[in-house]
Amino acid sequence: MSQQFWPFSKSIAYGGDYNPEQWPREVWDEDVKLMREAGVNFVSVGIFSWAMIEISENEYDFSWLDELLDLLHAHEIKVDLATPTASPPAWFFAAYPHARAINADGVPMGFGSRGMASHSSPEYHEAIVRYANKISRRYADHPAVVMWHVHNEYGVPVGEDFSEQSVQAWRRWLQEKYTDIAGVNEAWGTAFWGQRYTTFDHIPAPARTPSAANPAMQLDWARFTDDQIRACFIRERDAIRAHASQPITTNFMAHQAWNTDLWKWAKEVDIVSDDHYLWSPDPDAHIGLALAADLTRSVAGGKPWVLMEHSTSAVNWQGRNIAKRPGEMHRNALTHVARGADAVMFFQWRASRRGAEKFHSAMVPHAGTNSRIFQEVKSLGQNLQYYGAVQGSLVRNNVAILYDWESLWAQDLEWRPSDALGFREQMRTYYERLWRDGISVDFAHPSHDLSSYELVVAPASYLLRSEDAENLTRYVENGGTLVVACFAAAVDEYDAVHPDGFGAPLKTALGVSVEEYLPLRESETSTINYQASSGQHHALTATIWTEDLTLFGAKVVGQYEDGPAAESAPAITRNALGAGHGWYISANLSVTELAPVFSDIYADANLSAHRELDGVEILRRHHQDAEYVFVINHLNEVVEIPLVGRNMLTNEPADSVTVDAGGYAVVQTSQNGER
Ligand code: GAL
Repeated sequence: MSQQFWPFSKSIAYGGDYNPEQWPREVWDEDVKLMREAGVNFVSVGIFSWAMIEISENEYDFSWLDELLDLLHAHEIKVDLATPTASPPAWFFAAYPHARAINADGVPMGFGSRGMASHSSPEYHEAIVRYANKISRRYADHPAVVMWHVHNEYGVPVGEDFSEQSVQAWRRWLQEKYTDIAGVNEAWGTAFWGQRYTTFDHIPAPARTPSAANPAMQLDWARFTDDQIRACFIRERDAIRAHASQPITTNFMAHQAWNTDLWKWAKEVDIVSDDHYLWSPDPDAHIGLALAADLTRSVAGGKPWVLMEHSTSAVNWQGRNIAKRPGEMHRNALTHVARGADAVMFFQWRASRRGAEKFHSAMVPHAGTNSRIFQEVKSLGQNLQYYGAVQGSLVRNNVAILYDWESLWAQDLEWRPSDALGFREQMRTYYERLWRDGISVDFAHPSHDLSSYELVVAPASYLLRSEDAENLTRYVENGGTLVVACFAAAVDEYDAVHPDGFGAPLKTALGVSVEEYLPLRESETSTINYQASSGQHHALTATIWTEDLTLFGAKVVGQYEDGPAAESAPAITRNALGAGHGWYISANLSVTELAPVFSDIYADANLSAHRELDGVEILRRHHQDAEYVFVINHLNEVVEIPLVGRNMLTNEPADSVTVDAGGYAVVQTSQNGER
């Protein structure tokens, strides 16, 4: 984020969502005292306070918020002031029952939770703009307010809306996109199953259909839904901007919410912020965390970002909510910082006694301030002060992973060759391979300029526009190494198979195309004989997916030995094009099975893996004249890393750092400090 926007020069912001309206007034005094004790300098306020402020339509009571902001200011705690439009009051829905979103089964959302408003409701639009105007005019010059937080996690819990007003907006959206109905018929291939339309007025929302709904229609519906939601953000943002000059954000959920295209969203905010929660069933959830953090920094264009929410310990909304063990919170927080966050925030400051989230962890847990969690919160707050110099520094990577939300939306539709091959799983597998090899990555859209990257990996590019495929081809010609995983470039932006067949747009880059997809049965496997450049042979086990390939000049480096593809048929290929190489991996391989293949890929890209340090993250941020190296040890053993510089925690010179099992270190080195 640009420095002019960052209110915490040379320090990492620290704090969380603060919901004091749930507590008697005397608790607020204790809160601010404890915040100071914990090093908290930033809190998000008012996220769910609509009903407490706009008591009835157009009747406001700001008195408690006035008092709260003054109290926080008096204690030098800065405020990220929210618009509470994710949770309109009961009076609103009583007055405007049609402002409720309706689900795909035609059921209107009920009151008593949050997030039930229709993003297409004119009454909702009017109400959110009125509120945003009111609150921003009132607090534009309040000295505590340094940021605006619009809404909360757009897209969840309600994204799609099948209400009448949404359908009307959908038809307008289609008219704008396609101009005439013939354009829709062409784009959606409505000749199939007799779906031809004669007027926009006949187009429904893709609610429950007896069989598979038109996929191109569903893809456009996903785009429309995203646009509708984003238009609500823009309405509020512009209302605030008319009165206030502080940066405006809204909290994303990179790789955890699916219906918002964050490449588009990031262009609309002044500062990117993200919420992240560990996925409990995953014993390596910290790898998912790293992925989300890299994706957040990437959509932010590489600029530092705000970790708006994460948890001190367990959440309460997963099936089995696993508590964090000592040190884990600190490692999580530091991983976000190492990957570009300039703020470390939690949901929430004080655990709620009542309501749906009473079992959710917090900075001040139910067990009080003598608890392990509060002590760790304090020590994290203190340590972040030692890392203050890191603020504003950037992350540099020379590897990119392609990520396109449109491809996710399209790949996840029904009636694919195998529903076991998922976008998210493919993304995670390839990301994890690189993570375990100690190679840190950016994410990019396939249309981006990729020329600064030595290696570009496309784990899940099912939907690939022809012009983006040309971009990838040029990238290879100019000397890049491109790795493409199975089921790539199957369809265009209308979910239509590319004219010359599956994978055709990448034929030049990869020297191969796909004759037929050959998915496997649940327990079936297929063995690939991979001939490493070292001469060694590796038997790799594929699950879920194999393909029948046609060669157009690529060299075969791995053959199927069994399974539905013919014996000795090509499975993994390497193509020389111009100054670069295009690799194609036509089967679904696990993180482990991919290892020997990636060793050769790294050689093409002049990169080196650090498999001996699998489980230890070594990450770098840079200022013009300084480098900060973060070592985060996820192993159960002590590691010693040679690093010459200054240990930022102890402020001692260091030749190397010894990092305990589950520990961490941050070392400031000279600009080009070596591993
Ligand atoms: C977030 C949400 C917070 C809180 C949190 C619990 O998604 O923004 O309000 O519900 O989850 O983990």
